[in-house]
Amino acid sequence: MKIAILPGDGIGTEIVAEAVKVLKALDLQFESEQALVGGAAYEAHGHPLPESTLNLAKAADAVLFGAVGDWKYDKLERALRPEQAILGLRKHLGLFANFRPAICYEQLTHASSLKPELVAGLDILIIRELTGDIYFGQPRGRRVAVDGHFPGAEEAFDTMRYSKPEIERIAHIAFQAARKRGKKVTSVDKANVLETFQFWKDVVTEVHAQYSDVELEHMYVDNAAMQLVKAPKKFDVVVTGNMFGDILSDEAAMLTGSIGMLPSASLDRNNKGLYEPSHGSAPDIAGKGIANPLATILSAAMMLRFSLDQAEAADRIESAVRSVLSAGLRTADIWSEGTQKVSTRDMGDAVVAAVRGASVKTITTITKS
Ligand code: IPM
Ligand code: MG
Repeated sequence: MKIAILPGDGIGTEIVAEAVKVLKALDLQFESEQALVGGAAYEAHGHPLPESTLNLAKAADAVLFGAVGDWKYDKLERALRPEQAILGLRKHLGLFANFRPAICYEQLTHASSLKPELVAGLDILIIRELTGDIYFGQPRGRRVAVDGHFPGAEEAFDTMRYSKPEIERIAHIAFQAARKRGKKVTSVDKANVLETFQFWKDVVTEVHAQYSDVELEHMYVDNAAMQLVKAPKKFDVVVTGNMFGDILSDEAAMLTGSIGMLPSASLDRNNKGLYEPSHGSAPDIAGKGIANPLATILSAAMMLRFSLDQAEAADRIESAVRSVLSAGLRTADIWSEGTQKVSTRDMGDAVVAAVRGASVKTITTITKS
């Protein structure tokens, strides 16, 4: 097994270091190689996704990714901005299926901004199509308008598009995922306005014919945004396009208390994947040692499960995370009265100890040393 490790920018380097520590504690046989990506790669090589980094990612069995981006690159031309690294990896590796689970851990019910009874036991899975839609559609650009409300004025445009096979493959993934869980898929669209999403709805309905054991519901994206904060537990699997998935997955993340808890997996057609926390590089807290490494550690668990065929090792990480939460350890983002505030590194050390089988009591004292 070869894992490409791409820490990236901001808190990316701090949280990935903790996840690597946890992986090493499992005593699995794996090779790993690290490379620069995002702003860090731009500084060193003049490009956010250098050839060498892309080749490493292509050659590896899985990619563990931190985060990219910093406001200081906002003025660079788009092709050189850090975000292009993650978009380029998705495109060149064909990572079209993005899994973003939103699970509210029992120990964190009170960390959510919603009432505890609304989120207690929440377990939804957002499946976001990741290589199509308005994110990648061509043409796009700036030009002088020839029609519209202001002919002759400068304007900008993007193209929203989906082909039938793109919708079919993500729909199959959603129905198959639902089969292993609550057997319900909510397909989110904007069919009342957009041609692309009327087509989306039609194709998802067609694919559903092969999954009579799974319930399919269609929901407009504006209503979905509302239902997510009104009655989030009514969802099981949510499947949607690239842009709606981007927005709804951030919203769903907040239901769980902190985006710092949410892992993600982006898979190609052979289950090779890139694994990253759902959050960004958080330049405002970078270098302070306070970031929550659990989303990245849980992403490493997803990597073991989905791409490396090591489900048992993945279980060990996930139960270790539950143990440290039960021991009352919290990074600043999930801290509340009566729990113990710990640093990024302490949190990583505690998960390592739990993976190695330490008791909750030992875990609590580790961080006091
Ligand atoms: C995400 C991020 C990315 C996206 C950015 C960094 C390009 O917001 O993974 O959700 O929009 O997809
Ligand atoms: Mg996003």
